[in-house]
Amino acid sequence: MNSTRRDILKTTALGGLASSLTGLLGGSSSAAIASGPVTLSSGLTIRPDIVNARPRPAGQKPVHTLTTKPLEKVRVALIGLSRGMTHLSDSLNLEFVEVVAVCDLRAEHANNAADMCEKASGKRPKVYGGTETIWEQMVARDDIDVVYIATPWGWHVPMALGAMQHGKHAFVEVSAAVTVDDCWKLVDTSERTQRHCVMLENCCYGENELFLLNMVREGVFGELTHAECAYIHDLRSMLYALGTEGDWRRDYHEQFNGNLYPTHGLGPVAQYLGIGRGDQFKFLVSMSSSEKGLSTWRDKHSPNGGKHAKETYICGDMNTSMIKTELGRTIMIQHDVISPRPYSRINALSGTGGTFFDYPARLAINEPRKYRLDSGGSHEWMSDKDLARMRKLFTHPLWTKLAERAKGGGHGGMDFVMNWRHLDCIRQGITPDSVVYDAASWSSILELSSLSVATGSLPVAIPDFTRGLWKTMSPLPIAFKEPGKSIALPVKIAEWSPKDLHADWVSKSWDVTKGITGPGDYIFEFQYTHGAHRLDFRKVALLNGEAVIGKDDQPGHTGVENVHTLYRFTVAKHDPSAKVLLQAEIKADGGTDSYGDISIARE
Ligand SMILES: NC(=O)c1ccc[n+]([C@@H]2O[C@H](COP(=O)([O-])OP(=O)(O)OC[C@H]3O[C@@H](n4cnc5c(N)ncnc54)[C@H](O)[C@@H]3O)[C@@H](O)[C@H]2O)c1
Repeated sequence: MNSTRRDILKTTALGGLASSLTGLLGGSSSAAIASGPVTLSSGLTIRPDIVNARPRPAGQKPVHTLTTKPLEKVRVALIGLSRGMTHLSDSLNLEFVEVVAVCDLRAEHANNAADMCEKASGKRPKVYGGTETIWEQMVARDDIDVVYIATPWGWHVPMALGAMQHGKHAFVEVSAAVTVDDCWKLVDTSERTQRHCVMLENCCYGENELFLLNMVREGVFGELTHAECAYIHDLRSMLYALGTEGDWRRDYHEQFNGNLYPTHGLGPVAQYLGIGRGDQFKFLVSMSSSEKGLSTWRDKHSPNGGKHAKETYICGDMNTSMIKTELGRTIMIQHDVISPRPYSRINALSGTGGTFFDYPARLAINEPRKYRLDSGGSHEWMSDKDLARMRKLFTHPLWTKLAERAKGGGHGGMDFVMNWRHLDCIRQGITPDSVVYDAASWSSILELSSLSVATGSLPVAIPDFTRGLWKTMSPLPIAFKEPGKSIALPVKIAEWSPKDLHADWVSKSWDVTKGITGPGDYIFEFQYTHGAHRLDFRKVALLNGEAVIGKDDQPGHTGVENVHTLYRFTVAKHDPSAKVLLQAEIKADGGTDSYGDISIARE
């Protein structure tokens, strides 16, 4: 160790971190507990022992597979009716949900929400409003199954604990908690009361995120190695808007220097990697840029008559953390709500089989041919046409089912898909897709990244909120296909080679009987594989013996370039004993050196 680094580690606070690192790497962590807290420039302190494991208190049971009594109607109450209005409106659109009570400190917000319910359902929920603690009366009612909590961050934990202690499931907005201690309170209370604490991480239900999750589970990415994610959103003006999040969210820029809002990026990535279910966060290192943008914006615009002039922001404009997982994967996560740049959650994933980057969506895979794609391989992002084909194959069943209903809903429909899914899990009594361990581990990054930043980017262990259960937990139910349904990947059904070809057009038919498995729509695709000449084709027909099932005369070709290679036919009646033929006129272009195959997929 060089002398500068040794000197750094001598200081009390950093020594604590070094000791906790020793703990992480297999030594004793007791020195970390004995060492003093780290003081941030805001004066706020963080204890290094927050990284330590905490044994499960007696009498608590894990909740990772908690099932509950199925319900005919899910009775919902909501606290915080700004963001909460989205959850209210989604709840009102669900036939199996009844809104029984609404609560907001600002009574007019609660009354507006009640008006909306009355208009939609004819029933006015009980209204609670006017004081900061009136929610306590609401969660004590005995006719509520789920309490939505969409209040400022400081209220999430007391409200979630109150709801669970009164026997309700808590649905908490992001991030669920600010401190690691509070994350443990959520875990312990969920385990003690055997109630779910579900964080409302809507980004896990985005169309692209679920598309990606589905591809992961179907093996498109092979072995996963690395992910990147972020919350990058220029919020400068919102941070000073009165009567909105600006009233309280800026406080955190004065208190912490780290990743203030980790879960929108991290939630989906954690689900791809199976964090808490087969893999686990192990440690992070974090680094922040200097703080410039928020103070510059404030000084230039003097919002609210200049009353924020004396505020001191300590949070760097860009925070970058690297997380290492138990299986050795890496995650890069960023937070920047200050820089002038377009919105992004990055949403990137690499594995041995491919790479995806979002904003805009781009995919490159090792084996494009496996999915009947034209793309050359991993050195280029696939074309829009190929990406559309992959979407067709791997759109998540939840989006296939709910896309129409989600249209026009919050955040491109993901809010509706999330609310439908979480509430439907409670209705069925099955374990929701994410439970309290996910809420805690994704949220804990705020304080843990701040601890690393404050100690010169030393590695900080990430507590295992599952207390070892991650090793045996099974993957998320959300990952599975609908029961009995397999993804209809195209399969090779026939082929051509030079022996089938002549200088001029020739009629050829292939027996495709084994690909026809019942009535339905079938797509046939011609795909050149190798040889000096492309294949031209036209007058394509599907025959049942002599009878024509369908006919498409349009010419196409496949080679370096692919033009009109897909032919779609509807089989109205299926006779398993009948021989089905695909017929076409074919010709190679300028010679007969052409090889390729024909695939079939049932839509
Ligand atoms: N998932 C998302 O996409 C998303 C989007 C926006 C906000 N959020 C989250 O939702 C939460 C709320 O954000 P917001 O934008 O609605 O904030 P907001 O400040 O606009 O609204 C908060 C609401 O809570 C009420 N409230 C405050 N203290 C209360 C108390 N003690 N009792 C009852 N009501 C109280 C306020 O009167 C207000 O109506 C935050 O956690 C935020 O991070 C999530």
